[in-house]
Amino acid sequence: MTQTQSKYRTTSERRAEIQTRAAEMGIDDEYISCLVETFYNRVKEDKILGPIFAKNISNWDVHLPKMKDFWSSVALHSSRYSGQPVPAHVKLASEVEPRHFTLWLALFKQTLKDTAPSEAAIPYFMERAERIAQSLQLSMFGDPALPELQS
Ligand code: HEM
Repeated sequence: MTQTQSKYRTTSERRAEIQTRAAEMGIDDEYISCLVETFYNRVKEDKILGPIFAKNISNWDVHLPKMKDFWSSVALHSSRYSGQPVPAHVKLASEVEPRHFTLWLALFKQTLKDTAPSEAAIPYFMERAERIAQSLQLSMFGDPALPELQS
């Protein structure tokens, strides 16, 4: 069997497929830049989330490009992001609660509804945001279904 007939796709073939599918929904780096800018402008204005971010983000000129790389990696598999979201959020566990994640997700959804290039782009981003939010919360707060370990 030759390389081109292989049933296994290479990483770059898989990436090209994902980017084609995303492009059909109007999702590209230009839209991701718009989404991230609009979302964090709203976060900054939010009565509850705004002060948490203001206190913990020292430089928005660093945070915003990082978040664009993050969403480009998540939505387009561009591999541009190589940070560590878990420790970045675990250190916020004393001031961030599950209700803040609920607010974050609601604001993200509203931003998508207002800016998305197609209807399909909304669940495409929301499914990914919800999955990552779940996993961050598990790292921060543990699994509420499990009993606390006795020390
Ligand atoms: C209420 C919910 C959230 C709060 C308050 C929050 C807050 C923050 C803050 C303050 C930072 C900067 C940390 C630092 O630079 O030391 C950060 C980084 C980050 N956040 Fe969140 N976040 C929330 C939810 C989310 C969600 C749901 C996602 C993904 C879907 C996310 C993705 C990230 C990423 C990728 C970084 C960059 C981490 C790195 O430095 O590589 N965050 N967040």
